[in-house]
Amino acid sequence: MTASTSQEDVRLSDGVSIPLIGFGTWQLDGDDAYNGVRAALEIGYRHIDTATAYGNEDRVGAAVRDSGLGREDVFITTKCPPGNAGREARTLDASLRALGTDFVDLWLVHWPPHGEARPDMWKAFIEALEQGKTRAIGVSNYSIAQIDELIAATGRAPALNQIPWNPFAFNEREVAELRSRQVVLEGYSPLKRSDLGNPVLAEIAAAHGKTAAQVILRWHVEHGFVVIPRSRRRERIEENFTIFDFELTQEELRGLDRLGA
Ligand SMILES: NC(=O)c1ccc[n+]([C@@H]2O[C@H](COP(=O)([O-])OP(=O)(O)OC[C@H]3O[C@@H](n4cnc5c(N)ncnc54)[C@H](OP(=O)(O)O)[C@@H]3O)[C@@H](O)[C@H]2O)c1
Repeated sequence: MTASTSQEDVRLSDGVSIPLIGFGTWQLDGDDAYNGVRAALEIGYRHIDTATAYGNEDRVGAAVRDSGLGREDVFITTKCPPGNAGREARTLDASLRALGTDFVDLWLVHWPPHGEARPDMWKAFIEALEQGKTRAIGVSNYSIAQIDELIAATGRAPALNQIPWNPFAFNEREVAELRSRQVVLEGYSPLKRSDLGNPVLAEIAAAHGKTAAQVILRWHVEHGFVVIPRSRRRERIEENFTIFDFELTQEELRGLDRLGA
C-alpha cells in the first residue's frame, strides 16, 4: 500500500466504503463527546464510532450537524446492546432520533447476547438494512463460530467484526478466517491495550520521527484493518490522524506482527 497524505477506505461486502481510521467515542460524555467529534471532523476524520450504550449519540449527532459537513460525508457507526435483543427495530429508531439522522452507515450487534450468536437478532439487522435505516450491518466481539452460525441461518455474513486489536493481539489465523468470509476486521482499544513503551515500537517510531501510537495506527491501516482510536485531547486526536505521511517497511510490519506471537 502506498503512503498518501489523505485517509484511505476499505470496501465492505455490503458495497459501502468505510474510512480505515475513525474516531472512537466510548466514555466521552456531554461536552467531551461534542468537542471530540467536532475536533476530529475539523482535523479530517470522516468516520465516527458510537453506540447506544455510550449514551452520547445525541452529542455525536449535534457535532456532525454543526460541523458544516453533509451527512453523507461522515460515516457513522452505532451499536445495538445485547440486552436489546428482541427490540432491535425500536433500538435503531431511538439511535436515529438521538443522532438526528435518517440512516446510519453501519449498525453492529455490540456483543453476542449471553454469549450466543442469536440469528434472530441478525435477521432483524438484515430487515433494517433492507429498509435503508443502515447502509451496512455487522457484529462486534463475535467469534468465527458465532459468525458461521449467522451465515448458516441467513446466508448473509456480517460486513465487519469489531474486536479488540493491536500488534500485541495480532493473530494471523483470525485475520485469514475473517478474510475468507469477507468480514472486515475493525480493531478497538488499539492504544489502551498496547504497551506504548515497547522497544520494537520505539525503534520504528524513532526511524520515522513518529510516536508509538502513530506506528500502531499505521500498522492497522497498512494491513487494511479499520481502527478507531479515542482521545479527549485535541493534540492527540490530531496525532492519531497524522499517519498518512509515512509508510512502514515490510520488515517493520512483520516485526510488529511478531509482537502478537
Ligand atoms: N465494540 C466494543 O465492545 C468496544 C469496546 C471498547 C472500545 N470500542 C470502541 O473503540 C474505541 C477505541 O477504544 P478505547 O476507547 O477503548 O481505547 P483507545 O482508543 O485504544 O485508547 C484510549 C486511551 O488512550 C489515550 N490516548 C489516545 N491517543 C493517544 C496517543 N496518541 N498517545 C497516548 N495515549 C493516547 C486516551 O487518553 P486521552 O483521552 O487522555 O488522550 C485514552 O485513555 C472506543 O472509543 C469505542 O468507540 C468498542
